[in-house]
Amino acid sequence: MTDPAATRSRDSWATRAGFILAAVGSAVGLGNMWRFSYVAAEGGGAAFVLLYLVFVAVIGVPIMTSEFVVGRMSQESPVVAVQRLGGPKWAPLGWMFVFCGFGILSYYSVIAGWTMRYALDATRGIIGTDAGAYFQSVATGVPAIVTHVIFMALTIFIVVAGVKRGLERAALVLMPLLFLLLVALAIWAATLGGGAAGYGYYLRPQLGELLDPNVIRLAAGQAFFSLSLGMGAMMTYASYLTSKENLGREAATVALCDFGVAFVAGLVIFPVIFHFGLSSTIGLGGAISDNTVGTLFIALPAGLDSLGTLGRVVLSTFFIMLFFAALTSSISLLEVVVSAVIDGWGWSRKQAAIWFGVMIALAGLPAAFNLNFLDAADKFVGNFLLIVGGFFTAILVGYTIPAKADAELAQGMTDPALRKAWAFFVRYLSPVLLLIVIWFMLPTAWNALVTLLTLGRG
Ligand code: PFF
Repeated sequence: MTDPAATRSRDSWATRAGFILAAVGSAVGLGNMWRFSYVAAEGGGAAFVLLYLVFVAVIGVPIMTSEFVVGRMSQESPVVAVQRLGGPKWAPLGWMFVFCGFGILSYYSVIAGWTMRYALDATRGIIGTDAGAYFQSVATGVPAIVTHVIFMALTIFIVVAGVKRGLERAALVLMPLLFLLLVALAIWAATLGGGAAGYGYYLRPQLGELLDPNVIRLAAGQAFFSLSLGMGAMMTYASYLTSKENLGREAATVALCDFGVAFVAGLVIFPVIFHFGLSSTIGLGGAISDNTVGTLFIALPAGLDSLGTLGRVVLSTFFIMLFFAALTSSISLLEVVVSAVIDGWGWSRKQAAIWFGVMIALAGLPAAFNLNFLDAADKFVGNFLLIVGGFFTAILVGYTIPAKADAELAQGMTDPALRKAWAFFVRYLSPVLLLIVIWFMLPTAWNALVTLLTLGRG
């Protein structure tokens, strides 16, 4: 039997920068702004932010390095990769990755659709002063479905046409611009009166909250979602890597960029929420409402509307850039599904992207009708399953193939002490911490699953 990997010509990154850019493109997206601000609001602010940073550093970077190692070593899509390295019993992990890509994209696209509508409506000045009411009017129902379907069609088109590289070149310009715009907005937010309370909420942790299981579970889930971990996306991208880069350094670079964007976004959102008295609209600090999930989409327009035309242009520009950031993430989500179907069932890229893209668009309809469904899908797939995926990735790399993984990492990371430290994090620290997080997540994950099943049927 011929080895398909030997006869197949596989894509690969031409440069190190191309790989990093794609990985940052996957990581930086709605998670950094939409999800970060709403989960930080839900998680009580500063304690959440600090724990999130800790999880990014002590679990995120080691697990991302592990995903890179598996990807580069196997040069295969995740479903094949985990079986080739760990044996057939690891197949369910690969299929769980695919399920996560499918599930996350289904509702991610609904939110990405909101960015399109906001980009258009901002310039027409129709978001108005009651941003909460506007959000409610476009977040669900027909308006949400229209933009969701358009966004999915774009994602499918890009994955089919293989114009990924073009998009990445666009991202090369747009992402630094997005970051600069955020920095400018953060400076503007700093000039708002009454912002001190916002900074206090965002930056001054209450020590007691650091041990709160709810805050811990939200912070860990956010770290995984934002870094695109626990579902093979980073594995897929690293499987296109042939050169012997230092994978630990690459993971740290991606994590730093990702954290930077989210952190600065918070420096914009929280002073705005407090200055414009939006705490109760959003449901800050306890009274979680339908609007909490729309924190970003309510706070930013409410704030910028006060600046008149200039504010509206800035708002529109912001959402255009966020739309592009979402697109570079959504193609990585679809890529996990498509690469598995191509490798596993022998489908063509076009067939796989269109059929599965359409199924994902259909699966997203309940989320486009009901924010509770969207929230439950995000809690179950976007939080819980990613953590479970991360746990098993650590077990695979740390216990099933530790020597091979070390040898692969050594190609590029030459310092044995650093590799020892990595092995310690992957074998001991990450699995233990992730088990604790899984335990803390069980009740919410269960409730979310029940919500999905009941609303999905109704
Ligand atoms: N990291 C992306 C974001 O923060 O928006 C979302 C995401 C992409 C999650 C790819 C998971 C993934 F595999």
